[in-house]
Amino acid sequence: MKIAFSKPEQTNSGSLVVGVSEERKLTPSAAALDKKSGGILTRAMGASRFKGKKDDLLDIIAPKGLSLARIVLVGLGKLEKLDALRLQAIGGQLVAHLNRVGETVATMQIDTLPGAPLQAPDMAAHVAYGAKLRSYRFDKYRTREKEEAKPSLRSFNVMVTDVAAARKASAPLDRTADAIFFTRDLISEPPNVIYPETLAERCKRLTAVGVKVEIMDEKQLTKLGFNALLGVAQGSVRPPRVVVMQWNGAAKAKDKRPIAFCGKGVTFDTGGISIKPAGGMEDMKWDMAGAGTVVGLMETLAARRARVNAVGVVGLVENMPSGNAQRPSDIVKSLSGKTIEVLNTDAEGRLVLADVLWYTQERFKPKAMVDLATLTGAVIVALGHEYAGIMSNNDDLVKHLTAAGDAVGERLWRLPLGESFDRDIDSDAADVKNIGSNRAAGSIIGGQFLARFVNDVPWAHLDIAGVAWSKKDQPTVPKGATAFGVRLLDRLVAEHYEEPG
Ligand code: BES
Ligand code: MN
Ligand code: ZN
Repeated sequence: MKIAFSKPEQTNSGSLVVGVSEERKLTPSAAALDKKSGGILTRAMGASRFKGKKDDLLDIIAPKGLSLARIVLVGLGKLEKLDALRLQAIGGQLVAHLNRVGETVATMQIDTLPGAPLQAPDMAAHVAYGAKLRSYRFDKYRTREKEEAKPSLRSFNVMVTDVAAARKASAPLDRTADAIFFTRDLISEPPNVIYPETLAERCKRLTAVGVKVEIMDEKQLTKLGFNALLGVAQGSVRPPRVVVMQWNGAAKAKDKRPIAFCGKGVTFDTGGISIKPAGGMEDMKWDMAGAGTVVGLMETLAARRARVNAVGVVGLVENMPSGNAQRPSDIVKSLSGKTIEVLNTDAEGRLVLADVLWYTQERFKPKAMVDLATLTGAVIVALGHEYAGIMSNNDDLVKHLTAAGDAVGERLWRLPLGESFDRDIDSDAADVKNIGSNRAAGSIIGGQFLARFVNDVPWAHLDIAGVAWSKKDQPTVPKGATAFGVRLLDRLVAEHYEEPG
């Protein structure tokens, strides 16, 4: 789907979209169209439940004189609440609607709206951003799809008086959308295509935007002592990888310490010897969502030349049962030197992250460290699919992350860490065990385990198991891989870690 901006002019084909705010108040462009068409907008609204509320949509077959297929009225809701997120949702909902009705070309007219928080060019950019985000589709393996089942919309045009300003506002959003698509692709790919070596290979694309990409193989990892990660990997014929991505956008800053992002990249999680039941196991192809998100985030930061030093480190393994797989009760010596009793081979993400977090903090001495992981099923029990869990050793970092999440619609809810949870992972045989003594507080136990491998650095763990994949369409996220975290962390960096320009 092509998205473009142009100056307001007469539209002669496809659908023309105009906004109506609450209580059926026509925007200037809607009012002009109503007048030109002899009051058809007013009449159509009168004959329907369309009130101009948020999520309201009304199709009107265009009268003969207009040479348009249809007019679409879109509800803007209360103008004072028409913020960036709302506009993105409108863009996304329009794309879904226009595809549903089989439209190929559509134009939306954006007006200056007194009382609305954004200027017209910014409004245009956010509508376009939402439209693009919703247009994502992972269809590369469908070879027999009928034309009528494919999305129909070919072009979405946003009309706004100051085209140059809209394009300028749109450019960084568009790059973020591209990075989000990259992340969604990585997560959606099946595990016979994306496994540690191939995922590492795909990270190389980041060199094109100036990211330094280092790939560590099994030999290097063995030499360095990533034994917790290697223990997970040993059951698979696919060798593990750790990828280190560095973006130095603030090379001249006084404080050069980077912000660090770590990702769990289990390209498939069978559970290992503590094997998962067959039903639903296919979901475990997205057990590398944390890693995919870190890769996309690093791409966004570099593509928009963010004035920040950032490092992304992802631990890539496949968790398989085999004659060489690790056993429940194995003890491994992690990179930190701490020994771990592996009592459940399905609690593998924390083993991978134990080494990745330790490595990142020791090598880079980061200002702050954030990890993303589809770590526990328990976080879905606690928070469902609307919120990711956040656990942290630093209140300010939680505050900043939570606010960034609210602003982009990727919400976080804090779960506590603490000594009593920590006691629950003391092992009788080693320094720590990888599960608690029962099923209580499963997500916190996961976070508490990670905390054993974090020193003084401000750190936050995001358990994204409930939000990495969506089983239903959302306004700017079609069902499937969400790339949850790319926008959130991009925003965190922009607000709190970038050098003034
Ligand atoms: N990858 C899973 C967590 C998961 C579950 C993600 C469902 C997405 C949806 C993780 O590796 C896992 O298996 N965790 C175990 C931990 C348990 C053994 C302590 C779990 O949640 O059951
Ligand atoms: Mn597991
Ligand atoms: Zn897992």
